Amino acid sequence: MKLWAGRFQKALDDKTNDFNSSISFDSRMAGEDILGSMAHAAMLCKQGIISAEDGKQIREGLSAIADDLACGKLTVDPSAEDIHTFIEGELTARIGDAGKRLHTGRSRNDQVALDIRLYLRNRIPALQDQLTELIDVLCDKADTYADAIMPGYTHLQRAQPITFGHHLMAYAEMLLRDKDRLKDVLRRTNISPLGSGALASTTYPLDREAVAQTLRMDGVTANSLDGVSDRDFAVELAAALSLIMVHLSRFSEEIILWCSWEFKFIELDDAFSTGSSIMPQKKNPDIAELVRGKSGRVFGDLMTLLTVLKGLPLAYNKDMQEDKEAIFDALDTVTMCLTAFTPMIDTMTVLTDNMRKAAAGGFINATDAADYLVSRGLPFRDAYKATGELVALCIQKGLTLEALPLADYKAVCELFDDDVFEAIKLERCAALRRVYGGPAPENVRAQAARVRTLISE
Ligand code: ARG
Repeated sequence: MKLWAGRFQKALDDKTNDFNSSISFDSRMAGEDILGSMAHAAMLCKQGIISAEDGKQIREGLSAIADDLACGKLTVDPSAEDIHTFIEGELTARIGDAGKRLHTGRSRNDQVALDIRLYLRNRIPALQDQLTELIDVLCDKADTYADAIMPGYTHLQRAQPITFGHHLMAYAEMLLRDKDRLKDVLRRTNISPLGSGALASTTYPLDREAVAQTLRMDGVTANSLDGVSDRDFAVELAAALSLIMVHLSRFSEEIILWCSWEFKFIELDDAFSTGSSIMPQKKNPDIAELVRGKSGRVFGDLMTLLTVLKGLPLAYNKDMQEDKEAIFDALDTVTMCLTAFTPMIDTMTVLTDNMRKAAAGGFINATDAADYLVSRGLPFRDAYKATGELVALCIQKGLTLEALPLADYKAVCELFDDDVFEAIKLERCAALRRVYGGPAPENVRAQAARVRTLISE
Protein backbone atom coordinates (compact mmCIF):
# COMPACT_ATOMS: atom_id res chain seq x y z
CA MET A 1 0.00 0.00 0.00
CA LYS A 2 1.38 3.39 -0.97
CA LEU A 3 1.76 6.26 1.46
CA TRP A 4 -0.60 8.36 -0.61
CA ALA A 5 -3.31 5.64 -1.01
CA GLY A 6 -6.00 7.93 0.45
CA ARG A 7 -5.89 10.26 -2.54
CA PHE A 8 -5.82 7.53 -5.23
CA GLN A 9 -8.37 5.06 -6.63
CA LYS A 10 -5.85 2.65 -8.17
CA ALA A 11 -2.47 1.13 -7.30
CA LEU A 12 0.56 2.12 -9.38
CA ASP A 13 1.03 0.02 -12.51
CA ASP A 14 3.45 -2.86 -11.73
CA LYS A 15 6.16 -2.05 -14.25
CA THR A 16 5.83 1.63 -13.47
CA ASN A 17 6.31 0.80 -9.82
CA ASP A 18 9.74 -0.58 -10.65
CA PHE A 19 10.48 2.51 -12.70
CA ASN A 20 9.44 4.80 -9.87
CA SER A 21 11.14 2.87 -7.09
CA SER A 22 14.61 3.70 -5.79
CA ILE A 23 14.86 0.88 -3.26
CA SER A 24 17.30 -1.14 -5.37
CA PHE A 25 19.91 1.58 -4.87
CA ASP A 26 18.89 3.63 -1.84
CA SER A 27 18.65 0.72 0.61
CA ARG A 28 22.36 1.23 1.27
CA MET A 29 21.27 4.30 3.24
CA ALA A 30 19.16 2.23 5.66
CA GLY A 31 21.50 2.89 8.59
CA GLU A 32 21.50 6.64 7.99
CA ASP A 33 17.71 6.67 7.53
CA ILE A 34 17.24 4.96 10.88
CA LEU A 35 19.67 7.28 12.69
CA GLY A 36 17.97 10.31 11.18
CA SER A 37 14.56 9.03 12.26
CA MET A 38 15.79 8.35 15.78
CA ALA A 39 17.15 11.86 16.11
CA HIS A 40 13.92 13.30 14.71
CA ALA A 41 11.77 11.22 17.08
CA ALA A 42 13.87 12.14 20.10
CA MET A 43 13.47 15.82 19.23
CA LEU A 44 9.69 15.45 18.68
CA CYS A 45 9.49 14.01 22.18
CA LYS A 46 11.60 16.71 23.78
CA GLN A 47 9.51 19.39 22.13
CA GLY A 48 6.33 17.73 23.39
CA ILE A 49 5.10 17.09 19.83
CA ILE A 50 4.74 13.36 20.45
CA SER A 51 4.46 11.60 23.81
CA ALA A 52 7.42 10.14 25.66
CA GLU A 53 5.86 6.69 25.35
CA ASP A 54 5.50 7.01 21.55
CA GLY A 55 9.06 8.28 21.36
CA LYS A 56 10.35 5.32 23.32
CA GLN A 57 8.46 2.83 21.15
CA ILE A 58 9.74 4.47 17.97
CA ARG A 59 13.34 4.39 19.13
CA GLU A 60 13.15 0.79 20.29
CA GLY A 61 11.34 -0.24 17.13
CA LEU A 62 13.90 1.46 14.90
CA SER A 63 16.80 -0.02 16.77
CA ALA A 64 15.26 -3.52 16.46
CA ILE A 65 14.84 -2.93 12.71
CA ALA A 66 18.49 -1.90 12.47
CA ASP A 67 19.56 -5.08 14.30
CA ASP A 68 17.32 -7.30 12.18
CA LEU A 69 18.62 -5.74 8.96
CA ALA A 70 22.20 -6.19 10.13
CA CYS A 71 21.82 -9.89 10.95
CA GLY A 72 19.69 -10.65 7.89
CA LYS A 73 16.54 -11.48 9.87
CA LEU A 74 14.84 -8.64 7.99
CA THR A 75 15.40 -8.10 4.28
CA VAL A 76 14.43 -5.06 2.28
CA ASP A 77 11.24 -5.46 0.25
CA PRO A 78 12.21 -4.83 -3.39
CA SER A 79 8.72 -3.62 -4.25
CA ALA A 80 8.81 -0.79 -1.68
CA GLU A 81 9.05 2.67 -3.16
CA ASP A 82 12.21 3.60 -1.35
CA ILE A 83 14.15 2.90 1.83
CA HIS A 84 12.32 5.65 3.76
CA THR A 85 8.91 4.16 2.97
CA PHE A 86 10.12 0.66 3.73
CA ILE A 87 11.48 1.48 7.17
CA GLU A 88 8.49 3.58 8.18
CA GLY A 89 6.14 0.81 6.97
CA GLU A 90 8.09 -1.86 8.84
CA LEU A 91 8.09 0.26 12.00
CA THR A 92 4.35 0.78 11.84
CA ALA A 93 3.78 -2.94 11.22
CA ARG A 94 5.76 -3.62 14.38
CA ILE A 95 4.59 -0.91 16.80
CA GLY A 96 1.30 0.35 15.35
CA ASP A 97 0.11 3.94 15.88
CA ALA A 98 3.34 5.21 17.41
CA GLY A 99 5.06 4.34 14.11
CA LYS A 100 2.57 6.52 12.27
CA ARG A 101 3.62 9.50 14.39
CA LEU A 102 7.29 9.35 13.35
CA HIS A 103 6.78 11.39 10.20
CA THR A 104 5.21 14.34 12.07
CA GLY A 105 6.82 17.59 10.89
CA ARG A 106 8.92 15.81 8.29
CA SER A 107 8.74 15.04 4.57
CA ARG A 108 10.60 12.46 2.55
CA ASN A 109 12.11 15.44 0.77
CA ASP A 110 14.07 16.67 3.77
CA GLN A 111 14.49 13.07 4.94
CA VAL A 112 16.22 11.96 1.75
CA ALA A 113 18.35 15.11 1.66
CA LEU A 114 19.49 14.29 5.21
CA ASP A 115 20.14 10.64 4.42
CA ILE A 116 22.40 11.35 1.44
CA ARG A 117 24.33 13.95 3.39
CA LEU A 118 24.83 11.52 6.27
CA TYR A 119 25.74 8.68 3.96
CA LEU A 120 28.36 10.69 2.07
CA ARG A 121 29.70 12.19 5.29
CA ASN A 122 30.15 8.68 6.64
CA ARG A 123 31.97 7.44 3.54
CA ILE A 124 34.39 10.34 3.03
CA PRO A 125 36.77 9.54 5.96
CA ALA A 126 37.55 6.05 4.60
CA LEU A 127 38.38 7.62 1.27
CA GLN A 128 40.68 10.13 2.97
CA ASP A 129 42.39 7.21 4.71
CA GLN A 130 42.89 5.45 1.39
CA LEU A 131 44.52 8.58 -0.02
CA THR A 132 46.71 8.87 3.06
CA GLU A 133 47.84 5.28 2.58
CA LEU A 134 48.82 5.89 -1.04
CA ILE A 135 50.60 9.15 -0.20
CA ASP A 136 52.48 7.32 2.55
CA VAL A 137 53.62 4.62 0.12
CA LEU A 138 54.78 7.34 -2.29
CA CYS A 139 56.78 9.09 0.44
CA ASP A 140 58.51 5.82 1.34
CA LYS A 141 59.38 5.11 -2.27
CA ALA A 142 60.50 8.68 -2.83
CA ASP A 143 62.91 8.31 0.09
CA THR A 144 64.25 5.06 -1.32
CA TYR A 145 64.65 6.46 -4.83
CA ALA A 146 65.61 10.03 -3.96
CA ASP A 147 68.93 9.54 -5.80
CA ALA A 148 67.68 7.39 -8.69
CA ILE A 149 68.32 9.35 -11.87
CA MET A 150 65.63 9.17 -14.53
CA PRO A 151 64.81 11.26 -17.56
CA GLY A 152 62.23 13.96 -16.94
CA TYR A 153 60.01 14.52 -19.96
CA THR A 154 58.14 17.24 -21.74
CA HIS A 155 56.12 16.26 -24.83
CA LEU A 156 57.16 12.72 -23.82
CA GLN A 157 60.63 13.66 -25.09
CA ARG A 158 63.59 13.38 -22.75
CA ALA A 159 64.07 16.84 -21.33
CA GLN A 160 66.17 17.16 -18.16
CA PRO A 161 67.45 14.70 -15.58
CA ILE A 162 65.31 14.29 -12.48
CA THR A 163 65.07 11.57 -9.85
CA PHE A 164 62.45 8.87 -9.60
CA GLY A 165 61.71 10.05 -6.06
CA HIS A 166 60.95 13.52 -7.39
CA HIS A 167 58.61 12.10 -10.02
CA LEU A 168 56.69 10.11 -7.40
CA MET A 169 56.39 13.09 -5.08
CA ALA A 170 54.61 15.00 -7.86
CA TYR A 171 51.76 12.50 -7.47
CA ALA A 172 51.92 12.79 -3.69
CA GLU A 173 51.25 16.53 -4.07
CA MET A 174 48.22 15.89 -6.30
CA LEU A 175 46.80 13.39 -3.85
CA LEU A 176 47.41 15.76 -0.98
CA ARG A 177 45.26 18.36 -2.74
CA ASP A 178 42.63 15.65 -3.31
CA LYS A 179 42.55 14.94 0.40
CA ASP A 180 42.17 18.61 1.18
CA ARG A 181 39.33 18.92 -1.32
CA LEU A 182 37.48 16.08 0.42
CA LYS A 183 37.86 17.89 3.72
CA ASP A 184 36.30 20.94 2.12
CA VAL A 185 33.43 18.90 0.66
CA LEU A 186 32.83 17.36 4.06
CA ARG A 187 32.41 20.82 5.59
CA ARG A 188 29.49 21.66 3.28
CA THR A 189 28.00 18.14 3.33
CA ASN A 190 27.69 17.75 7.07
CA ILE A 191 24.79 20.22 7.46
CA SER A 192 21.28 19.12 8.41
CA PRO A 193 18.36 19.94 6.11
CA LEU A 194 15.83 18.27 8.42
CA GLY A 195 13.04 20.70 9.27
CA SER A 196 12.83 21.95 5.69
CA GLY A 197 9.79 19.70 5.32
CA ALA A 198 8.54 19.14 1.78
CA LEU A 199 9.65 22.65 0.83
CA ALA A 200 8.14 25.17 3.25
CA SER A 201 9.27 23.79 6.62
CA THR A 202 6.52 23.09 9.13
CA THR A 203 4.22 24.60 11.73
CA TYR A 204 5.51 22.31 14.49
CA PRO A 205 8.02 23.85 16.88
CA LEU A 206 10.96 21.72 15.76
CA ASP A 207 14.40 22.09 17.33
CA ARG A 208 16.50 21.72 14.21
CA GLU A 209 19.78 22.42 15.97
CA ALA A 210 19.16 19.63 18.46
CA VAL A 211 18.65 17.12 15.63
CA ALA A 212 21.85 18.31 13.96
CA GLN A 213 23.73 17.95 17.21
CA THR A 214 22.44 14.45 17.85
CA LEU A 215 23.61 13.51 14.36
CA ARG A 216 27.04 15.15 14.89
CA MET A 217 26.36 17.61 12.10
CA ASP A 218 27.96 21.04 11.97
CA GLY A 219 24.86 23.16 11.44
CA VAL A 220 21.46 23.43 9.78
CA THR A 221 20.50 24.66 6.31
CA ALA A 222 19.16 28.22 6.32
CA ASN A 223 16.40 28.11 3.71
CA SER A 224 13.80 25.37 3.43
CA LEU A 225 13.59 25.48 -0.38
CA ASP A 226 17.36 25.20 -0.67
CA GLY A 227 17.41 22.58 2.09
CA VAL A 228 15.40 20.08 0.06
CA SER A 229 16.72 20.93 -3.41
CA ASP A 230 20.43 21.39 -2.82
CA ARG A 231 22.69 18.64 -4.10
CA ASP A 232 25.75 20.83 -4.57
CA PHE A 233 27.58 18.74 -2.01
CA ALA A 234 27.12 15.65 -4.22
CA VAL A 235 28.39 17.58 -7.25
CA GLU A 236 31.38 18.80 -5.27
CA LEU A 237 32.15 15.29 -4.13
CA ALA A 238 31.83 13.94 -7.67
CA ALA A 239 34.17 16.71 -8.85
CA ALA A 240 36.69 15.89 -6.13
CA LEU A 241 36.40 12.20 -7.03
CA SER A 242 36.86 13.04 -10.72
CA LEU A 243 40.11 14.83 -9.96
CA ILE A 244 41.31 11.84 -7.94
CA MET A 245 40.60 9.74 -11.02
CA VAL A 246 42.43 12.22 -13.28
CA HIS A 247 45.47 11.83 -11.06
CA LEU A 248 45.24 8.04 -10.80
CA SER A 249 44.67 7.83 -14.54
CA ARG A 250 47.73 9.95 -15.40
CA PHE A 251 49.77 7.86 -12.98
CA SER A 252 48.36 4.68 -14.55
CA GLU A 253 49.34 5.87 -18.00
CA GLU A 254 52.92 6.28 -16.81
CA ILE A 255 52.89 2.89 -15.09
CA ILE A 256 51.74 1.34 -18.38
CA LEU A 257 54.50 3.12 -20.31
CA TRP A 258 57.14 2.26 -17.71
CA CYS A 259 56.21 -1.44 -17.84
CA SER A 260 56.65 -1.63 -21.58
CA TRP A 261 59.80 -3.15 -23.04
CA GLU A 262 60.48 0.21 -24.68
CA PHE A 263 60.88 1.82 -21.23
CA LYS A 264 61.30 -1.01 -18.69
CA PHE A 265 61.64 1.40 -15.79
CA ILE A 266 59.56 -0.78 -13.50
CA GLU A 267 58.15 -4.23 -13.21
CA LEU A 268 54.82 -4.87 -11.55
CA ASP A 269 54.45 -7.65 -9.04
CA ASP A 270 52.83 -10.82 -10.40
CA ALA A 271 49.96 -10.31 -7.95
CA PHE A 272 49.06 -7.07 -9.74
CA SER A 273 49.54 -8.14 -13.36
CA THR A 274 47.81 -10.52 -15.71
CA GLY A 275 48.89 -12.81 -18.52
CA SER A 276 47.51 -13.38 -21.98
CA SER A 277 45.36 -16.32 -23.07
CA ILE A 278 47.42 -16.79 -26.23
CA MET A 279 50.79 -15.03 -25.89
CA PRO A 280 52.87 -16.87 -23.27
CA GLN A 281 55.41 -14.05 -22.91
CA LYS A 282 52.88 -11.41 -21.92
CA LYS A 283 52.65 -9.68 -18.56
CA ASN A 284 50.05 -6.97 -18.74
CA PRO A 285 49.40 -3.95 -16.50
CA ASP A 286 45.62 -4.57 -16.41
CA ILE A 287 45.11 -2.90 -13.03
CA ALA A 288 46.58 0.38 -14.24
CA GLU A 289 44.61 0.13 -17.49
CA LEU A 290 41.37 -0.46 -15.60
CA VAL A 291 41.98 2.50 -13.34
CA ARG A 292 42.64 4.64 -16.42
CA GLY A 293 39.51 3.22 -18.05
CA LYS A 294 37.28 3.66 -15.02
CA SER A 295 38.08 7.35 -14.77
CA GLY A 296 35.49 7.85 -17.51
CA ARG A 297 32.72 6.43 -15.33
CA VAL A 298 33.42 8.93 -12.59
CA PHE A 299 33.51 11.90 -14.99
CA GLY A 300 30.21 10.58 -16.37
CA ASP A 301 28.76 10.51 -12.86
CA LEU A 302 29.75 14.14 -12.36
CA MET A 303 28.11 15.06 -15.66
CA THR A 304 24.97 13.14 -14.66
CA LEU A 305 24.63 15.13 -11.46
CA LEU A 306 25.18 18.48 -13.14
CA THR A 307 22.69 17.64 -15.86
CA VAL A 308 20.04 16.39 -13.42
CA LEU A 309 20.21 19.65 -11.50
CA LYS A 310 20.59 22.23 -14.21
CA GLY A 311 16.96 22.71 -15.22
CA LEU A 312 15.14 21.97 -11.99
CA PRO A 313 12.69 24.53 -10.66
CA LEU A 314 12.62 24.86 -6.89
CA ALA A 315 12.20 22.89 -4.82
CA TYR A 316 12.20 19.05 -4.81
CA ASN A 317 11.60 17.25 -8.10
CA LYS A 318 11.69 13.50 -8.60
CA ASP A 319 14.57 13.95 -11.03
CA MET A 320 16.67 14.30 -7.90
CA GLN A 321 16.27 10.60 -7.18
CA GLU A 322 18.81 10.19 -10.01
CA ASP A 323 21.51 11.70 -7.80
CA LYS A 324 22.09 8.51 -5.85
CA GLU A 325 23.24 5.98 -8.44
CA ALA A 326 25.65 8.54 -9.86
CA ILE A 327 27.31 9.59 -6.62
CA PHE A 328 27.33 6.03 -5.23
CA ASP A 329 28.96 4.75 -8.42
CA ALA A 330 31.59 7.47 -8.27
CA LEU A 331 32.36 6.66 -4.64
CA ASP A 332 32.46 2.91 -5.17
CA THR A 333 34.63 3.24 -8.26
CA VAL A 334 37.24 5.44 -6.61
CA THR A 335 37.29 3.22 -3.51
CA MET A 336 37.84 0.14 -5.68
CA CYS A 337 40.53 1.82 -7.75
CA LEU A 338 42.50 2.96 -4.71
CA THR A 339 42.18 -0.48 -3.13
CA ALA A 340 43.98 -2.05 -6.10
CA PHE A 341 46.27 0.85 -6.98
CA THR A 342 48.11 1.39 -3.68
CA PRO A 343 49.46 -2.16 -3.23
CA MET A 344 50.31 -2.25 -6.95
CA ILE A 345 52.60 0.76 -6.42
CA ASP A 346 53.88 -0.55 -3.12
CA THR A 347 55.02 -3.85 -4.61
CA MET A 348 56.46 -2.69 -7.93
CA THR A 349 60.13 -3.29 -8.67
CA VAL A 350 62.02 -0.19 -9.76
CA LEU A 351 64.69 -0.82 -12.40
CA THR A 352 66.97 2.10 -11.58
CA ASP A 353 69.73 1.03 -14.01
CA ASN A 354 67.33 1.20 -16.94
CA MET A 355 66.14 4.62 -15.84
CA ARG A 356 69.65 5.90 -15.62
CA LYS A 357 70.52 4.43 -19.02
CA ALA A 358 67.51 6.13 -20.58
CA ALA A 359 68.60 9.40 -19.01
CA ALA A 360 72.10 9.01 -20.44
CA GLY A 361 71.04 8.13 -23.94
CA GLY A 362 69.88 11.54 -25.14
CA PHE A 363 71.14 15.04 -24.60
CA ILE A 364 69.28 15.49 -21.39
CA ASN A 365 72.17 17.48 -19.89
CA ALA A 366 72.33 20.01 -22.74
CA THR A 367 70.82 22.72 -20.51
CA ASP A 368 73.60 22.07 -18.01
CA ALA A 369 76.25 22.37 -20.74
CA ALA A 370 74.74 25.76 -21.59
CA ASP A 371 74.66 26.72 -17.91
CA TYR A 372 78.37 25.81 -17.73
CA LEU A 373 79.09 28.45 -20.39
CA VAL A 374 76.90 30.95 -18.52
CA SER A 375 79.02 30.34 -15.41
CA ARG A 376 82.01 31.35 -17.54
CA GLY A 377 80.41 34.64 -18.45
CA LEU A 378 78.59 33.92 -21.72
CA PRO A 379 75.01 35.30 -21.95
CA PHE A 380 72.46 32.47 -21.76
CA ARG A 381 71.15 32.93 -25.32
CA ASP A 382 74.67 32.59 -26.78
CA ALA A 383 75.38 29.62 -24.54
CA TYR A 384 72.12 28.03 -25.69
CA LYS A 385 73.14 28.46 -29.35
CA ALA A 386 76.64 27.04 -28.81
CA THR A 387 75.23 24.00 -27.02
CA GLY A 388 72.76 23.48 -29.85
CA GLU A 389 75.72 23.29 -32.22
CA LEU A 390 77.39 20.76 -29.89
CA VAL A 391 74.27 18.57 -29.95
CA ALA A 392 74.15 18.74 -33.75
CA LEU A 393 77.81 17.70 -33.83
CA CYS A 394 77.09 14.77 -31.49
CA ILE A 395 74.23 13.60 -33.68
CA GLN A 396 76.44 13.86 -36.75
CA LYS A 397 79.20 11.80 -35.08
CA GLY A 398 76.85 9.39 -33.31
CA LEU A 399 78.16 10.42 -29.86
CA THR A 400 76.72 11.66 -26.58
CA LEU A 401 77.79 14.90 -24.89
CA GLU A 402 79.77 12.80 -22.41
CA ALA A 403 81.73 11.06 -25.19
CA LEU A 404 82.41 14.05 -27.44
CA PRO A 405 86.15 14.96 -27.32
CA LEU A 406 87.11 18.23 -25.65
CA ALA A 407 88.63 19.41 -28.93
CA ASP A 408 85.16 19.38 -30.48
CA TYR A 409 83.80 21.33 -27.53
CA LYS A 410 86.52 23.91 -27.91
CA ALA A 411 85.91 24.15 -31.64
CA VAL A 412 82.36 25.23 -30.90
CA CYS A 413 83.25 27.53 -27.99
CA GLU A 414 86.64 28.45 -26.55
CA LEU A 415 85.19 28.73 -23.03
CA PHE A 416 84.80 24.96 -22.67
CA ASP A 417 87.42 23.19 -20.53
CA ASP A 418 87.80 19.61 -19.37
CA ASP A 419 85.80 20.30 -16.20
CA VAL A 420 82.73 20.44 -18.49
CA PHE A 421 82.51 16.65 -18.22
CA GLU A 422 82.06 16.96 -14.47
CA ALA A 423 79.48 19.71 -14.99
CA ILE A 424 77.27 17.58 -17.21
CA LYS A 425 77.26 14.44 -15.03
CA LEU A 426 73.63 13.48 -14.57
CA GLU A 427 73.90 13.08 -10.80
CA ARG A 428 75.35 16.55 -10.53
CA CYS A 429 72.67 18.00 -12.84
CA ALA A 430 69.96 16.69 -10.52
CA ALA A 431 71.82 17.46 -7.29
CA LEU A 432 72.36 21.11 -8.21
CA ARG A 433 68.64 21.71 -8.77
CA ARG A 434 68.18 22.63 -5.16
CA VAL A 435 65.65 25.38 -5.70
CA TYR A 436 62.58 24.78 -3.51
CA GLY A 437 60.45 22.27 -5.43
CA GLY A 438 63.41 20.97 -7.46
CA PRO A 439 64.59 17.36 -7.86
CA ALA A 440 67.80 17.43 -5.78
CA PRO A 441 67.85 14.29 -3.61
CA GLU A 442 67.97 16.35 -0.40
CA ASN A 443 64.87 18.26 -1.61
CA VAL A 444 63.00 15.06 -2.36
CA ARG A 445 63.74 13.72 1.11
CA ALA A 446 62.69 16.98 2.73
CA GLN A 447 59.49 17.04 0.68
CA ALA A 448 58.67 13.47 1.68
CA ALA A 449 59.22 14.37 5.33
CA ARG A 450 57.01 17.46 5.03
CA VAL A 451 54.22 15.50 3.33
CA ARG A 452 54.43 12.78 5.97
CA THR A 453 53.90 15.39 8.67
CA LEU A 454 50.94 16.82 6.77
CA ILE A 455 49.19 13.46 6.41
CA SER A 456 49.71 12.54 10.03
CA GLU A 457 47.92 15.71 11.20
N1 ARG B 1 13.13 8.21 -3.31
C1 ARG B 1 13.03 9.64 -3.31
C2 ARG B 1 14.37 10.25 -3.72
O1 ARG B 1 15.32 9.56 -3.75
C3 ARG B 1 12.66 10.11 -1.95
C4 ARG B 1 11.93 11.40 -1.92
C5 ARG B 1 10.63 11.25 -2.53
N2 ARG B 1 9.81 12.40 -2.37
C6 ARG B 1 8.72 12.57 -3.11
N3 ARG B 1 8.04 13.61 -2.85
N4 ARG B 1 8.40 11.76 -4.07
O2 ARG B 1 14.47 11.40 -4.06
